[in-house]
Amino acid sequence: MSRARIAVTRRLPEPALERLREAAEVWVSPHDRPLDLGELRDAVAGAEAVLTLLHDRVDGALLDAAGEQLRCVANVAVGFDNIDVAAASERGVVVTNTPGVLTDATADLTLALILGVTRRVGEGERWVREGRFWSWDMFFLLGAGLTGKTLGVVGLGGIGRSVARRALGFGMEIVYSTPRRAPPDVEASLGGARHLPLDELLRVSDVVSLHCPLTPATRHLIDARALALMRPSAFLVNTARGPVVDEAALVDALEAGTLAGAGLDVYEREPEVHPGLLERDDVVLLPHLGSATIETRTAMAMLAAENAIAMLEGRRPPTAVNPDVL
Ligand code: GLV
Repeated sequence: MSRARIAVTRRLPEPALERLREAAEVWVSPHDRPLDLGELRDAVAGAEAVLTLLHDRVDGALLDAAGEQLRCVANVAVGFDNIDVAAASERGVVVTNTPGVLTDATADLTLALILGVTRRVGEGERWVREGRFWSWDMFFLLGAGLTGKTLGVVGLGGIGRSVARRALGFGMEIVYSTPRRAPPDVEASLGGARHLPLDELLRVSDVVSLHCPLTPATRHLIDARALALMRPSAFLVNTARGPVVDEAALVDALEAGTLAGAGLDVYEREPEVHPGLLERDDVVLLPHLGSATIETRTAMAMLAAENAIAMLEGRRPPTAVNPDVL
């Protein structure tokens, strides 16, 4: 009997590739870049399972290019806004993601951005590297402290909760906004976190951190109107998905001085960054590093591999996003 074929659209950590090779014939993209549409179509043709990255757009046309034998699209990411899940479900294809394993790494990086933007870490680092004159000065590069300030967490899933837990350690109070209020024990474990409507959260927070998925309902959730509700002394941090924020409106708010700064790991049109952000000192800009630790990337790839293999072996994949298909 011929072995199943698994296509991997970009190189993954070796332990995951080894695990896949034990179970199937594995094709791995030889390119160190995202595949273009034609390459992606060729790559998936005839595959029973495909491991995709967040830059691969998986729509009905791509699923059709793969063929009827396709059983599983295993996204190596917790977000799956790059995949048309309805189109996959219609074709009986299971979509899986990688929740849990990247929670701590992403929460850590969120804190790095919160500290980076409030304490002007990027600006200070650039100052020293550029060889500009400095000496200890009472008024030099003063930032904003976190103790006693309010963190507004938008989306209280695993990552939002982990960020809130870390922020408690910095003496912050937590408010959060989610479609459904969290259970009392969760609120209690987050120092008595208060559930607020988004507008209210934006009004009272010193730092607003985004942890919701990108959906039609959250696209441009933070637009000009939302930004206008924030305090001029407040900071916006986004480690979720770029299009949750209207980047042009963010640049306008920073320029107008109605917002103190922003820490961004994600962008509306990655890898492009709005030119208005690039020239500002009150923003900290990272190249989508939320899950970028060796341990986490390995765990993500292993979980995606396990999902694909489970599907091929007739087992339930651990983290399906459309389990109705099973
Ligand atoms: C990264 O952005 C992910 O969704 O895993």
